[in-house]
Amino acid sequence: MSSWWQKAVVYQVYPRSFQDSNGDGIGDLKGIIQRLDYLAYLGIDAIWLSPVYKSPNDDNGYDISDYQEIMDEFGTMEDMEILIAEAMKRNIRIVMDLVVNHTSDEHPWFVEARQSRDNQYRDFYIWSDPDSQGNPPNDLGSTFSGPAWEYSELTGQYYLHLFSKKQPDLNWGNQEVRQSVYDMMNFWIEKGIGGFRMDVIDLVGKQPFKKITGNGPKLHEYLQEMNRATFGNKDLMTVGETWGATPEIAKLYSKPNRNELSMVFQFEHSGLDQQPGKEKWDLIDLSIPALKDVFSKWQTELASEGWNSLFWNNHDLPRIISRWGNDKEFRVQSGKMFAILLHLLKGTPYIYQGEEIGMINYPVETIEEVDDIESINMYNVRLSQGYAKEDILDSINAKGRDNARTPMQWNDSKNAGFTSNKPWLHINPNYPEINVEKALEEKDSLFYTYKKLIQLRHEHPIVVWGTYNLVDTEDENIFAYCRVLDEQKWLIITNFQEKTTTFDLKEEPKSVLIQNYTKKEYTKGMLYLDPYEAVVLEIS
Ligand code: NOJ
Repeated sequence: MSSWWQKAVVYQVYPRSFQDSNGDGIGDLKGIIQRLDYLAYLGIDAIWLSPVYKSPNDDNGYDISDYQEIMDEFGTMEDMEILIAEAMKRNIRIVMDLVVNHTSDEHPWFVEARQSRDNQYRDFYIWSDPDSQGNPPNDLGSTFSGPAWEYSELTGQYYLHLFSKKQPDLNWGNQEVRQSVYDMMNFWIEKGIGGFRMDVIDLVGKQPFKKITGNGPKLHEYLQEMNRATFGNKDLMTVGETWGATPEIAKLYSKPNRNELSMVFQFEHSGLDQQPGKEKWDLIDLSIPALKDVFSKWQTELASEGWNSLFWNNHDLPRIISRWGNDKEFRVQSGKMFAILLHLLKGTPYIYQGEEIGMINYPVETIEEVDDIESINMYNVRLSQGYAKEDILDSINAKGRDNARTPMQWNDSKNAGFTSNKPWLHINPNYPEINVEKALEEKDSLFYTYKKLIQLRHEHPIVVWGTYNLVDTEDENIFAYCRVLDEQKWLIITNFQEKTTTFDLKEEPKSVLIQNYTKKEYTKGMLYLDPYEAVVLEIS
C-alpha cells in the first residue's frame, strides 16, 4: 500500500525566522501565508511547522503553555486556520510539531501541579523527594546542561526536566495525561492538518528513577494507544524525533502493521563528527566511508519494512554546507551535491528553510550574540570548567543551533526582506549574495536543483520505490549508489570531497537526469569528477 507521504517532499518552516509580516522583527503566520506561492513553486507537498503554540519562549516555542492557542507574536487561531486552508489550496499539508514530552512551567497544569503535593495536577509531572542529603534522587542530566532535577521550594520536592528547568517533563504513566494529549491532537486533526512531527517522542516512556530516558519499556504501547485514539484511521503523516534509534528500533515505530508512526528521524549520520562518548560540541573530522556505511545500513535495513526520513538540516543542526561541504568557493556545488545525494535515496526528504538557496552558518564573535539556551548554558558550564572562551565559541560556531535559525534571506533589501524592523536574531551579512530573489533569477541556482529533484521524485516511481545498492568505488570518498525498479536503473555518483578524482563508469548511460556541472557529458569509461561533482545517470 502506498501513502501520500511516501511520495512527498516536506519543507520545514521555523516560523520565528521565516517571514515577518507586521514589523515586530519576529516571523509570523501571516508571513508564512504570504510565502506559500513560493513554496508551491518549489514544489513541496507538506510543511513541518515548528511550534506556533502559546509559549514563553524559553526554548523558542518548544516550551508550550497552551497547546490550543497561538503564540501572540505569531498571530491568531484565525491566521492558523487560514494558513491550513491556503496551504491546502496549493496541495500543501501542514504538519504540526507535537511537543508532549514536556510542557512549559507556565502551562496551567504545571502552575497548578507545583502548588501542593495533593493538587489534582500533581501527578501530571514527575516529582521526587530529596535524598537523605537533600540532593536530587539521581544524577540524570539535562540536555541543556546541569541536573535534570529542579528543587521546588513550595512543596520540598524535585521535578524532572530533561530539557530546561522551564520545560518540566510530563508523566506519561498517568492515563489522564495521555488522554489530554490525545484530545488536544484531535482538536488539531479536526482543523484539517496533515499530521504531526513528534518532538523527542522516544523519551515519553522514560523511567527516570531507573535512569532510563530513551526507549522506555512502555514507549510503543503508548504510541499504539495514541495511534488508536487519534490519527490511526486518518490519512496523516507522523514522524517521530528519535535521537537514539537504531534500524531495529525504527522498524518498531514505522512497520505499518504495528500501527505506530509513518517514520522517524534518526540521527546516526549526524553524530559522525562527534568524538565517541563525548558531547556534540567535541568535534572530529567526518569520515566519508563511515557516512556511506550509515546511510547504506539504513537504506538496506528499512528497504521493505518501515520507512526512512532523509535530512541534512533542521533547526537544531548547523547548516550542512558549512558543516561538511565548503561554504566558500564551492558553496553552490557542494550544496547541490548534498541535495542530489539525499533526494535520490529511498525515503521522505526534508528541506529546512533556506537550504534550497544554500544558506550557511553565521559565525558569532561573542556570547552576547547568541540566543539559543543550549549554547548559552554550555558556554557557562565550560567556562566554569576552565575551557578557553575561543574554544567554546569555536564549538558554538560549528554546532550551535543559532546557525540554522538566522532569518530567511528573501532579497537584498534591508534586513533581507525578512522584516522592516530589527530582526530578533542577526541576519547573515551575506544576504545581498544569497537570497531567494537572486536564486529565482539565476537558472543555475541551487533553488532549481531542489525544484528539479522534487519533480524527479514526483514523476519517476523509481525515486520513491526503487531498491538501493551501494556501488563500490576505488576512491572511498566517492559516494555512488544505484536505484533499480523493474527494468529501470539509475546511477547516482557524488564526489564528496574538494578534489578532483576518477570513477570508472562500467555501462553506457542512456541519459543524464540531473547534474551539478552543467556542461559535462558522460560516456562509458573513466570519468573525471570535479570537486563535489554530482550526477544522476539513467543506465537502463
Ligand atoms: C527537540 C527540538 O527539535 C529542540 O529544538 C528542542 O529544544 C527539544 N526537542 C526540546 O523540546
